[in-house]
Amino acid sequence: MKKILLIGCGHMGNALLTAWIKTDTYNLTIIDPIKYKSLKNKFKNKKVEIIKSVTDLKKNINFDIIIFATKPGDLNDVLNQLCKIKINKKTILASIIAGKKIKTFKKNYKNFKNIFRVMPNMPALINQSMNCVVANKQANRLSINEVLKLFSYSGKTILLESEKYIDMATAISGSGPGFVFNIIDAMESAANKLGFKKEISKILVTETFSGSVNLLLENKLNAKELVSTVATKGGTTEAGLKIMKKNNLHKIFEELTRAAYKKAKEQGN
Ligand SMILES: NC(=O)c1ccc[n+]([C@@H]2O[C@H](COP(=O)([O-])OP(=O)(O)OC[C@H]3O[C@@H](n4cnc5c(N)ncnc54)[C@H](OP(=O)(O)O)[C@@H]3O)[C@@H](O)[C@H]2O)c1
Repeated sequence: MKKILLIGCGHMGNALLTAWIKTDTYNLTIIDPIKYKSLKNKFKNKKVEIIKSVTDLKKNINFDIIIFATKPGDLNDVLNQLCKIKINKKTILASIIAGKKIKTFKKNYKNFKNIFRVMPNMPALINQSMNCVVANKQANRLSINEVLKLFSYSGKTILLESEKYIDMATAISGSGPGFVFNIIDAMESAANKLGFKKEISKILVTETFSGSVNLLLENKLNAKELVSTVATKGGTTEAGLKIMKKNNLHKIFEELTRAAYKKAKEQGN
């Protein structure tokens, strides 16, 4: 059984952990300073070791993969604590932290080749994460496969060819669930204002979203082409689409993804 160390078990770490625990494939150790108590309780019947701090690790550790899943601002503390511990240079280091570059890890782990950045997203909680992976140029094929396999348990996992794409993925798929939830909320509020009860609005909107996405996934037509199949000339959909056009929906998305992309790059500094 491969041994995994997860450092930081907040929203995203917990979502990934939930997916990994179900597989019964890994020997998992989790570090989280505050949540360790509730995590111990939550996973008391599972094969997971939960500890409070990096400093509680043994002086020599032997994990196959170490996952960094703290907020960007906490990474320095983690690296400072970890540098007092001997880690085998074959260990895979994988960070899901927005913005933090591979070279940040190389600084502390000069002889380590198997360093990765991964950008997952929150649907990992239901095994439907979109995971983008990028490997250090010197990473070996075995370690690439190992990382792809680990993250595949939480959802769709693709390997990107260069690190520059990871900050872009952060703005699209990493932050994407937040954008999608906000759009759903806007459509639900609009349905409420038309006069539907909240529970009816919720089912109409969520089923419309999931049905539309599933149709798109199974269809040869792309999203733009599908728009024209549902918008009859002079009809109701067209009337609504005109408002989207007037308010420049595409421009809004360009702006919001650029803002998220800029933030991802800033977080790396
Ligand atoms: N949330 C998302 O949708 C998402 C998506 C993709 C990527 N990410 C990335 O995932 C990372 C975590 O995001 P998140 O939303 O899960 O944040 P979060 O909920 O704040 O989780 C971070 C966890 O790390 C813990 N932590 C802080 N210092 C630590 C240390 N020295 N050792 C061990 N654990 C420590 C925090 O504990 P305390 O709360 O006690 O400080 C917290 O439980 C971020 O870097 C983010 O860029 C997030």
